[in-house]
Amino acid sequence: MAREVGIGIVGGGLMGREIAAALERWPALIDHPVRPRLVAVCDINPSALDWFEQIPSVRTRTTDLDELLTDPAVEVVYVAVRHDLHEELYVRVVQAGKALLAEKPFGIDLRAAETIRDAVAASGAFVRCSSEMPFFPGAQLALRHVASGALGQLIEARSGFLHSSDLDTTKPVNWKRQVAYCGEGGVLGDLGMHAWHAPLRLGWVPETVYATLQNLVPERPGPDGTLVPCDTWDNATIVGRVRDEHGEFPLTVETKRIAPGNKNTWYFEAIGMNGGVRFSTADPKAVEVFTIAEISGIGREQVWQRVEAGSQSAWPTVTGGIFESGFSDAILQMWAVFLAEREGALGDRFACASVDEAVATHRMIAAALESQRSATSVRLPGASER
Ligand SMILES: NC(=O)c1ccc[n+]([C@@H]2O[C@H](COP(=O)([O-])OP(=O)(O)OC[C@H]3O[C@@H](n4cnc5c(N)ncnc54)[C@H](O)[C@@H]3O)[C@@H](O)[C@H]2O)c1
Repeated sequence: MAREVGIGIVGGGLMGREIAAALERWPALIDHPVRPRLVAVCDINPSALDWFEQIPSVRTRTTDLDELLTDPAVEVVYVAVRHDLHEELYVRVVQAGKALLAEKPFGIDLRAAETIRDAVAASGAFVRCSSEMPFFPGAQLALRHVASGALGQLIEARSGFLHSSDLDTTKPVNWKRQVAYCGEGGVLGDLGMHAWHAPLRLGWVPETVYATLQNLVPERPGPDGTLVPCDTWDNATIVGRVRDEHGEFPLTVETKRIAPGNKNTWYFEAIGMNGGVRFSTADPKAVEVFTIAEISGIGREQVWQRVEAGSQSAWPTVTGGIFESGFSDAILQMWAVFLAEREGALGDRFACASVDEAVATHRMIAAALESQRSATSVRLPGASER
């Protein structure tokens, strides 16, 4: 019988509910070492707590964070609140002796991320940062193909996360579109962890970055309909120069709120002299693999082949192998991996974004902002001089 782990959620909005629902599907996982139970939820807005009445294991619904943090039944806390609140709340969680799955961007800026990192180190708490998109089965196949070395010398790589609903200029402003609550990085902070997780895990840390940032919609309707500043960056394109054992290659990382036609599209592609791979959640079953093949009656040709990914990701599930997978499945996989790693039972499976990867993402964001200001390419701290 798997050991029960008490979970507390702080922030019962969009993501708090998504995680609560995912935990209810835990029996889909095969032979997981723990069984999480959502026992407590905290939100400063009492009406946000009502939704959690339908989850029988929740025995505490509170507006007081201390009530959740002093509850001995809560071992692990998931925090999903505005970015300006990350630093204070994450530090309080780890200082209370709880494990933490922190939402991205892990603090409003680099300074906040480093403060949280230091508090995590001092507390000894087990902490990871949310980034679920690499747990799409197709993404796992693509990343495993790259890690196998099949691509040879890399020519280029691209990673991105694309939204489009902000194309509607009448869409009201919200906290994610205001620097004070979302951070100076705007879309870089909001979507950056998603786009940097896989490249950083593959060891692709740029030595320099050049960024082009756009604030395409500088005002949006406020609560009473009058226009108010919408001062965050909407779109960001970063070109990094990565050096590996073969030489240098460009890594392009796009995070966009206005990429017309894209609804939460995460993509990853890499092409090398010997092979290539690409995957996008826009076509979630398709993993395209590049190879040079001898084709009967035609001869030796360069070919993009299409492999269909099934349901299986990092942690095995009872779901039929040929069935389709989606966002909620990726969330469940991220949690399976997070809690398995905490138990020391992850093995060589793809792990959640680490604290170092979250801080490294903030370094990329800070460099991108500096590149935009100076209109030059910016060298990352620690990069070797050439
Ligand atoms: N991983 C993903 O795919 C993904 C998707 C969307 C958002 N996010 C991240 O999740 C976090 C939250 O985003 P969201 O879309 O769920 O926001 P949201 O606005 O839907 O929900 C935030 C909730 O936090 C509550 N809250 C505010 N201050 C609080 C406090 N001091 N204590 C407790 N609760 C408080 C609010 O009342 C609200 O219910 C952000 O960091 C965001 O970037 C991640």
